[in-house]
Amino acid sequence: MWLRCTSKCVFASLSRSYNNVLSRSFNIAAFMPEAAGFEGVSDRAALQEFSLSNSDHFWAAVARHRLTWISPFHTVQDCDLSRGRIKWFEGGKLNVSVNCLDRHVHTCPEKVALIWERDEPGSEVKVTYRSLLDMTCRLGNLLRRRGVKKGDCVTIYMPPCPLAVASMLACARIGAAHNVVFAGFSAEALAERIRDAQSSTVITVNQGVRGGRVIELKKTVDTAVEGCPSVKQVFVAMRTENPVVMTDRDVSMEEYVFSYHDGDVFGCVADIGWITGHSYSVYGPLANGGTTVLFESTPVYPNPGRYWEMVQRLRINQFYGAPTAIRLLLKYGDHWVHKYDCSTLKTLGSVGEPINTEAWEWYHRVVGDGRCPVVDTWWQTETGGICIAPRPSDPDAEIVPGMAMRPFFGMKPVLVDGEGKLLTSNNTSGPLCLAQPWPGMARTIHNNHQRFIETYCQPYPGYFFTGDGAHRSEEGYYQITGRLDDVINVSGHRLGTAEIEDVVNHCPAVAESAVIGYSHDVKGQAVYAFVVLKKEVGVPEEDLSQLLKDMVSKSIAKYACPDQIQFVQRLPKTRSGKIMRRVLRKVVEQDLGGLGDLSTLDDPAAVQEIVQGHQDLC
Ligand code: PRX
Repeated sequence: MWLRCTSKCVFASLSRSYNNVLSRSFNIAAFMPEAAGFEGVSDRAALQEFSLSNSDHFWAAVARHRLTWISPFHTVQDCDLSRGRIKWFEGGKLNVSVNCLDRHVHTCPEKVALIWERDEPGSEVKVTYRSLLDMTCRLGNLLRRRGVKKGDCVTIYMPPCPLAVASMLACARIGAAHNVVFAGFSAEALAERIRDAQSSTVITVNQGVRGGRVIELKKTVDTAVEGCPSVKQVFVAMRTENPVVMTDRDVSMEEYVFSYHDGDVFGCVADIGWITGHSYSVYGPLANGGTTVLFESTPVYPNPGRYWEMVQRLRINQFYGAPTAIRLLLKYGDHWVHKYDCSTLKTLGSVGEPINTEAWEWYHRVVGDGRCPVVDTWWQTETGGICIAPRPSDPDAEIVPGMAMRPFFGMKPVLVDGEGKLLTSNNTSGPLCLAQPWPGMARTIHNNHQRFIETYCQPYPGYFFTGDGAHRSEEGYYQITGRLDDVINVSGHRLGTAEIEDVVNHCPAVAESAVIGYSHDVKGQAVYAFVVLKKEVGVPEEDLSQLLKDMVSKSIAKYACPDQIQFVQRLPKTRSGKIMRRVLRKVVEQDLGGLGDLSTLDDPAAVQEIVQGHQDLC
């Protein structure tokens, strides 16, 4: 299981810089007023260099200029990547909800903070900074009255909606951590996350609405909390008008009245249950006084023109989405985009997985009408914000389709070889690490600091290991090649293969299983499961296959469901008993010439059987 989003304060100013990246002409004072005092800095390249060689000076200026501090920090950083010690802005105290709300209520209370793009097109709701602050304060007071205190961790299981954002900010306001769980997760997956966070409070809605379908979120919470003795209260807001069964544990929440105002619109369509939603739908835009869209629906509801109709209606300026959706939409044809006026768009962002050239070009040519730069932004939950991205504001900087291009300010990506030696030349590939700490980075894994050190700091001592592989081109541009570990990325959702195997192995008919990811046109990667059955199961394979798919959907989420299940007699293992997933991947990719060194295989005949079985299945 990967690090979950419980961090109270994502370093939101990165998003301000990101917004600024979107403007075309470069002017250092306009781009970054605080850079005025940086000696010898007159252009972007010098600023990039300064941000790395004068890291303390750079981050201190950014932090002082862009954030409001309750008490100032005395030490900018005290970091040692080799020991997993990461401390930023020591002695300083701030409240992220004050930075996201109160500051802007002083200057522009009626500016629209959130545009809630509800499932039904044309029924959007706009929330001003003033009403969001009001909602947040009331919720914070309610939580406090109900015993939630500083240091507690509140689980939020809600679709993207203003109340979900207010719940996040209310937690931050009273010093509680929030554990936002993607509302597509099953009861079991939710229960596991509640237990991990030891939450006594859960906030949810009666029902969700997505793609025209009603989703019984409160029922899922009821099932989940059965196995979570720590939960003492569940706050329930009404997303639909349908009543739900309330128990003694449940507390009903009232709805609010929203107002409307014009403003600049940042359209990040990620769910708030993922890091992109945290940093670029909530904290980043709000900390910078922007107007942000909360997208509740799906890209194809009520039809494949949904995004572009929304761009026209809400006058969205920056659109930030995932390659999987772009790949899906391009299959429906250009006319779904051409139907709408997308001339407000200035920049198109992509995140979560590699974007293939066809999708990149369609996004650029059809959606962006050839005039909007596409920024392929690489980052991860652990980094908190964008680390590598193209810079369309730099007139000399080219953008190559499918490449994340160059490091962002203060970020120092490096490639290493198998022994951890720095690869200094260009035109080279290797594990991607980050050589310098930055304020938005993860500092630990909740309740397991040792695991944090082992996962991120020990693989390549002195560097923060990202788990991704990358290629650095002749020109020094970065291209992310994918995960190096047993983690797959389905439609931009990161999943541990072990998590799926765990569910499959729970089936009484299954002896063991191995799950891998394989390339998929639309989803980026899809799930392929190899399953060894116990002897004499007596159930047709077709039925078992369906049963296993249902189990995974129910236990994890629909998107985790294997697209293909192959029943095999045995799995290819090393003599020490390790499953050779590399071999399984090559079989599925039909790259038998690339099977590599099989000398450590315990029983080479296993591979032949699997190859034959795979060909039969295809
Ligand atoms: O493998 C990389 C891929 O998504 C992973 C991070 O997933 P998560 O923590 O869920 O955060 C997703 C949103 C930032 C990375 O380790 N990834 C992210 N952005 C890109 C990418 N792969 C290729 N290109 C990208 N632009």
